[in-house]
Amino acid sequence: MTPPYSLDDRLPADHYAGALREDVAAGLTASPKSLSPKWFYDARGSVLFDRITRLPEYYLTRAERMALRAHAADIAEQTGARTVVELGSGSSEKTRILLDALAAAGTLERYVPIDVSSTALGEAGQALSRDYPTLAVTAVLADFEHELALPPPGETGPRLVAFLGSTLGNFDTGQRTAFLSRLRSALTGGDALVLGVDLVKDPAMMIRAYDDQQGVTAEFDKNLLTVLNRELNADFQPGAFDHRAVWNAEQERMEMRLRARVATSAKIPPLDLAVDFARGEDLRTEISVKFRREPLTAELASAGFAVEQWWTDPQERFAVLLALPTA
Ligand code: SAH
Ligand code: TRP
Repeated sequence: MTPPYSLDDRLPADHYAGALREDVAAGLTASPKSLSPKWFYDARGSVLFDRITRLPEYYLTRAERMALRAHAADIAEQTGARTVVELGSGSSEKTRILLDALAAAGTLERYVPIDVSSTALGEAGQALSRDYPTLAVTAVLADFEHELALPPPGETGPRLVAFLGSTLGNFDTGQRTAFLSRLRSALTGGDALVLGVDLVKDPAMMIRAYDDQQGVTAEFDKNLLTVLNRELNADFQPGAFDHRAVWNAEQERMEMRLRARVATSAKIPPLDLAVDFARGEDLRTEISVKFRREPLTAELASAGFAVEQWWTDPQERFAVLLALPTA
């Protein structure tokens, strides 16, 4: 009998000790200062992100859900997938739309959520095993920048890889190119990619989505400092920073920054590092690139993916696309 739920811990043993330290050492001594977004998602960060997806200003989740609902049956029909692999699965909430469509088509056997957050994986996995008793849920705790951790194609194909929530936009151009070709090399004929990306639009609407009235996004952003304080025994003062969401028109991306309201400094003992922030200085914590159809299609083509379908929500805020590996 297939176990209903398993978790494979593939995080490198030194994920926090090594990778976090390297990232912090490089990012906080650079100019401008920046950090990699994967450190946002400890238990509290994952809960806060889930609240972001339900904020009135955060249109992305609702728009993506609309596009998925409208076209999940097409995705099921065109892929015939037996396995859904999801990168950065979080709560796996929208994924249920895909799982339902593939179950209705009669091909679905396995779901492989991959995430760096053990609490998000555990909670999503439990809820899914309860609601989908015949589905094999084999979760993988991994850093997809380090290792993609896809299940082997032979026993699990055809596979549908889902990369939703515009998480692709959290890479810069170089990281994105590298990531897409790595993903392409992990796929074989018959596999497919369903990608959810946010589109370029009125900046005011995007700025609101990343700087909500209730301050949930600000709390999420500052939680990064709390993670550093805990994991690296650092002494950042989250209260000394303001959250800012800035539209970078030239690079067509949102930038989330923590701005020092006053001059402040933090000690990071394991790195033997003291970091000074001038008053008004920014720490860039996240980018969220917004996409356009032609350039993204061309980028995917150079990575070895043909865009077969490009769907949007009715207001064309967000796109869900189905891409197949080319020979
Ligand atoms: N797919 C969900 C969640 C998006 S938030 C949605 O669309 O709502 C981004 C998710 O990716 C978080 O759950 C975070 O923990 C995960 N994540 C971020 N960087 C990661 C990395 N390097 N490796 C694995 N998971 C990562
Ligand atoms: N992938 C999400 C996005 O780009 C991540 C995200 C949403 C995020 N809100 C955020 C990251 C606020 C940092 C701060 O929309």
